[in-house]
Amino acid sequence: MPSTPLITLRPFHEADTEFFAGMATDERVTRSIGDGQPWNQQTIQARVHAALQQEPLNDVGASRWFLATEANEPVGIVVSTRKESGVEIGYWVSPDDWGRGIAGAMVDGALVTIPEVYGTRKLIARVDPANAASAKLLTRRGFKLETGHEGLDNYTLA
Ligand SMILES: CC(C)(COP(=O)(O)OP(=O)(O)OC[C@H]1O[C@@H](n2cnc3c(N)ncnc32)[C@H](O)[C@@H]1OP(=O)(O)O)[C@@H](O)C(=O)NCCC(=O)NCCS
Repeated sequence: MPSTPLITLRPFHEADTEFFAGMATDERVTRSIGDGQPWNQQTIQARVHAALQQEPLNDVGASRWFLATEANEPVGIVVSTRKESGVEIGYWVSPDDWGRGIAGAMVDGALVTIPEVYGTRKLIARVDPANAASAKLLTRRGFKLETGHEGLDNYTLA
């Protein structure tokens, strides 16, 4: 059985933008995100800028991103945003690394880091119902499917 990848999460830096842009412009990655289209450079810069703002963590809309590395190489990102009802997480893995358990290992790290950062264990994820890998990794980690909204399934971990 393949071993679990050794993944480290660290805060996202501006210098990580190129790695992020590689994923955000790849339609395999964006298929299950937002309107499903690859992001343009303007959107990428705006999202990175917002993520680096360091807004107070109790403000609704405050976000923190984390770069996931394996052997010091970037393999994915975890994004998190304060919502009224908890902290929403998202995760993207570089397509060349799909299917190796990286997302699962990233979310395992996020389940430790994000409650420490925000001071709450109430986590939320919104998932395209067609995204079987994403639904599976959340369910395996105790997230419960609650409701659907705007075509997405809402999972929560209380
Ligand atoms: C969804 C995504 C994060 C999964 O990343 P990954 O590193 O390939 O996922 P993992 O290898 O950790 O697999 C997670 C689980 O899904 C299963 N899985 C993987 N690919 C699958 C597929 N195509 N269909 C069904 N299950 C699948 C794995 O077996 C694993 O389950 P297990 O723990 O029972 O073994 C990745 O495909 C991605 O970045 N997609 C684009 C962005 C995205 O959709 N993000 C999620 C939105 S919140």
